[in-house]
Amino acid sequence: MTDPSTLIGKFIDLYGGKPDDVRLFFAPGRVNLIGEHIDYCGGNVLPAALTLGISAAVRITRARNIRMGSLNLPGSPTVNLDSNIEFEESRGWGNYPAGVMRMLADRGTALRSCDIYFAGDLPDGAGLSSSAAIEVLTAVTMTRLAGYEAKFPPRDIALLSQEAENKFIGVNCGIMDQYASALGRKDHAILLDTRTVSSKYVPFKFPGYSLVIMNSNKRRGLADSKYNERRAECEAALDAIRIKRNIADLVRATPDETEDIPDPVLRRRARHAVSEQSRVERAVECLTRGDADGFGWLLNKSHESLRDDYEVTGLELDALTDAARSANGCAGARMTGAGFGGCAIAIVRTDKLDGFREHTAREYRAATGLTAEFYTADADDGAREVTLRGG
Ligand code: GLA
Repeated sequence: MTDPSTLIGKFIDLYGGKPDDVRLFFAPGRVNLIGEHIDYCGGNVLPAALTLGISAAVRITRARNIRMGSLNLPGSPTVNLDSNIEFEESRGWGNYPAGVMRMLADRGTALRSCDIYFAGDLPDGAGLSSSAAIEVLTAVTMTRLAGYEAKFPPRDIALLSQEAENKFIGVNCGIMDQYASALGRKDHAILLDTRTVSSKYVPFKFPGYSLVIMNSNKRRGLADSKYNERRAECEAALDAIRIKRNIADLVRATPDETEDIPDPVLRRRARHAVSEQSRVERAVECLTRGDADGFGWLLNKSHESLRDDYEVTGLELDALTDAARSANGCAGARMTGAGFGGCAIAIVRTDKLDGFREHTAREYRAATGLTAEFYTADADDGAREVTLRGG
């Protein structure tokens, strides 16, 4: 989380006034442990909220607009409260918060005029869900400013943030990222059933092992269009299975049913969805009994399936996870998030972390010419208002 006094200092530099009436909010990014690309196929997924995320300093004003600024991104997007909130190309990144404001307005929420300054410590374009974080952050901020927190519990915050991404931004994402950002819990992973949008918390701990996030530093170019394409393919695969048996979701197909799909591409997509669902179940069992090696093996299998059947990894993520697996003390590694670049994760013996990072960075650079970055990750709480010391 960005240091609150730095954030407030920047807010005052930009908008003037005193710090007394400035409020602070935070929403985390997420990492997905396993259950990739099945949150739009009715599957179970296992994400965790991170300590990294986006913060907002906010002050209510008398104007009839919402002014925004950001430490990390250029421009001063605004939202006019006297007209309908529509997507505007020129608003750039400001469309993410604007989309959430629109969803709130559509639900009859009276939006308060305010000035907002955002600052994040999530690596940019790395697939740790900065877009879900800014959406959930906006939803929490605007509902709190309007005194509506009781009307919008965290699950509703997640759903309306997802709706903003689907309808306003035009990315047909599932519910996982917004849910994790809104409902994360310290030291826990979230076992989320995306059919019912309900979850339970699973303590995330392998004694003697750490979770490492590895940034490939390959930006996720074209990811949004490929993402929508994969989603459409899953719907087509489901239609193909339904000719013989009416199942609600692709993950409910049997392995035989997936192998019967005539189109080879759709067959592979369905094979990934069905096998990934079973890996999530087994991963939760490994977590419950503290079996890091079993969990790591499932991470490796998940990556293979995303590479060969779902085809969303790419040269860099394959090279990075290969490099990680060949290091001493690594139980397993896989890409995380949408793919096509971004981040991977590994489960690594804590006493071998230094050697692991050195070896993986060296091998990855030799294979791709790129420099990987590493973060040791802790699971943290979901979006919240931040109370300042003494406040
Ligand atoms: C992105 C989407 C999620 C999910 C993952 C892949 O992060 O926003 O809904 O589909 O990709 O698991």
